[in-house]
Amino acid sequence: MKKIVILTGAGISAESGISTFRDSDGLWENYRVEEVASIEGWYANPKLMLDFYNERRRQVEKVQPNAAHKALALLEQKYDVTVITQNIDNLHERGGSSKVIHLHGEITKAQSTGDPFWTRDIGYNDLHIGDCDDHGYQLRPFIVWFGEAVPEIERAAKITTSADILIIIGTSLAVYPAAGLMNYAPQNCVKYLIDPKAVPAGGIAHLNIIREKAGKGVPELVDKLMNE
Ligand code: APR
Repeated sequence: MKKIVILTGAGISAESGISTFRDSDGLWENYRVEEVASIEGWYANPKLMLDFYNERRRQVEKVQPNAAHKALALLEQKYDVTVITQNIDNLHERGGSSKVIHLHGEITKAQSTGDPFWTRDIGYNDLHIGDCDDHGYQLRPFIVWFGEAVPEIERAAKITTSADILIIIGTSLAVYPAAGLMNYAPQNCVKYLIDPKAVPAGGIAHLNIIREKAGKGVPELVDKLMNE
């Protein structure tokens, strides 16, 4: 079975109604990303951060996977598919994908500030100051903020080295190490990039650019790959 690795960013969830990070002059839901997505932001104002991600969690509960999420799940009928996403939403899973690696964490989980390996599924419930783990440590969103390590990157890079097909969808490729993953794809790997805007994809050879929104471009590419 051929292996497909899919790297997604906020753009794949845009048509579900979740805003991207850099399409509205660097503001994410009216905040500078560094203010609400960095470890410094957490130390400076944990309540603001908890409230911000409570809002994001409520929003994820309300929205639905779109045609792009659902089309990617169809690929599993013919290929060995791994989705490596920068997104913290659960729309790939709800769209039917069964192997999803979240490089930047998951909005539906909480993490202990005392033990990073202690995580708990909280669904769409809010997190507040005073919500603690069994040892009394404050809980925080299970999200990788700027200034923190990306624990899943090694696993993601290893999987990418064995890709027969690499599909990059809806990411500005502005944030490392996620943006560097495509360099792990084998030279002879067939590569596609789906984005309505031009994205600096570096010196990636033989990149097939599909200048479309994900909702249109992904189902069309999936249709092609299912009939190859
Ligand atoms: N379909 C496909 N792509 C889209 C769509 C759409 N409907 N709408 C926007 N895009 C594209 C934009 O053109 C852009 O290239 O999605 C990309 C979104 O880029 P960013 O907002 O930078 O999001 P992303 O690349 O996921 O950000 C990476 O930065 O803030 C951190 O941790 C955060 O995971 C995030 C990381």
